[in-house]
Amino acid sequence: MGKKFFIKTFGCQMNFNDSERIRGMLRGIGYEPTDNWEEADLILLNTCTIREKPDQKVLSHIGEYKKLKEKNPNALIAVSGCLAQRTGWELVQKAPAIDIMFSSFNMHQLPELINQAQAGYKAIAILDSPPEDEDKVWEFPTERDNPYCAYVTIIKGCDKNCTYCVVPRTRGKERSRSLESILEEVRRLVDDGVREIHLLGQNVTAWGKDFDKPVSFSHLLYEVSKIEGVERIRFTTGHPTDLTDDTIEAMADIPQVCNALHLPFQAGSNRVLELMDRKYTKEFYLERVAKLKENVPDIAMSTDIIVGFPTESDEDFEHTLDVVRQVEFEQIFSFKFSPRPGTPAESMEGHVPDEVKTQRMSRLLSLQKSIMGKLSSRYEGSVQEVLVEDEKDGKLVGRTTTNKWVTLEGGKELLGKLVAVEITKASPFNLLGEVREVLR
Ligand code: 5AD
Ligand code: SF4
Repeated sequence: MGKKFFIKTFGCQMNFNDSERIRGMLRGIGYEPTDNWEEADLILLNTCTIREKPDQKVLSHIGEYKKLKEKNPNALIAVSGCLAQRTGWELVQKAPAIDIMFSSFNMHQLPELINQAQAGYKAIAILDSPPEDEDKVWEFPTERDNPYCAYVTIIKGCDKNCTYCVVPRTRGKERSRSLESILEEVRRLVDDGVREIHLLGQNVTAWGKDFDKPVSFSHLLYEVSKIEGVERIRFTTGHPTDLTDDTIEAMADIPQVCNALHLPFQAGSNRVLELMDRKYTKEFYLERVAKLKENVPDIAMSTDIIVGFPTESDEDFEHTLDVVRQVEFEQIFSFKFSPRPGTPAESMEGHVPDEVKTQRMSRLLSLQKSIMGKLSSRYEGSVQEVLVEDEKDGKLVGRTTTNKWVTLEGGKELLGKLVAVEITKASPFNLLGEVREVLR
């Protein structure tokens, strides 16, 4: 019988994509995936600390998973990701059942760490900075659930140091992946049937800045679009100060780049933005959005917002609502400020009480609901290009280029196809439509 692995992933898309690569890596050394941890020989918890304190949650999972060792003494428990990076041996002392730990810098060492652990040693490899051979990780394929849309990590780390954020501490400085390595992965994915490429990184818009001969992110967009078979390109996440005019122009110029952009603004008040060290003002953000809308008229914007940053007053918060009203985002991801260990914001004065954060959050969400209602009614009767991605409960589902989910009637032969769909009913979170034409 072959060995089996079970992965539990917490957190963001970057972590999700790391897990996809780890899955590919484990398959490469003879492991098969399982959805049932009780039959696994290797359990991996890929952790995240960006917005919550996962320590307790992870410890309680390990408490449960360690029962596996009673039945299967050779079973291994591994922890990776931000929590592993931050706590290292400290966590192993609290949870001695952990056999393997590694950071986001040395995922590629997992096969060696498994060998070490199988030989009876604790394989704890937490590094402070990326090793020389970090790029080896790209040699491993990813294993995906969605056959038509694939994430491709193009940059790791972040140089921005926003005062609330742990990422620069857990994922290090910006390191752009080489153009050749990215294009090679994209070619491989397209050969495998992928039609939509989603470029990923903490700050994708900064891609190429750290090369000996710096290049712009827009160059990457053009190069990816030239690969035959790439029908759609998306990218997340960008920072407003790195969203240059040439990137906006490339978005307008390249037909495959989707009409959607996730551009976090975090807060509307200039005073709060300064405390966050975001390096832009409300006016700058609105100007970038205006430029985007001028170049890509139907663009669907989405964003991240932090509610209740230390010292945020009602008046500050009004500026956040004002940005939401002016931009009319299709989607917002809003988070109550949560102090992260070791970040400058953790020790700032003027923490906002939780009740106030909750009240502000509900004002924000009710405003957003009304905007979404208005935006989605505009879809009714329109014809949208949809990539059919999946079948659920006998219906097909896919996304518009603006990243809206559409439910359709149709047979399995449409899976993976781009179809023209007439929208018959629109609600804030979902659209219903009928296929008018199979495009390609
Ligand atoms: N508290 C609340 N939200 C946070 N984010 C990052 N750090 C924190 C924090 N300490 C949010 C930001 C970021 C998103 C990925 O998570 O909005 O854009
Ligand atoms: Fe964190 Fe700011 Fe970097 Fe985003 S841009 S990862 S919020 S430091």
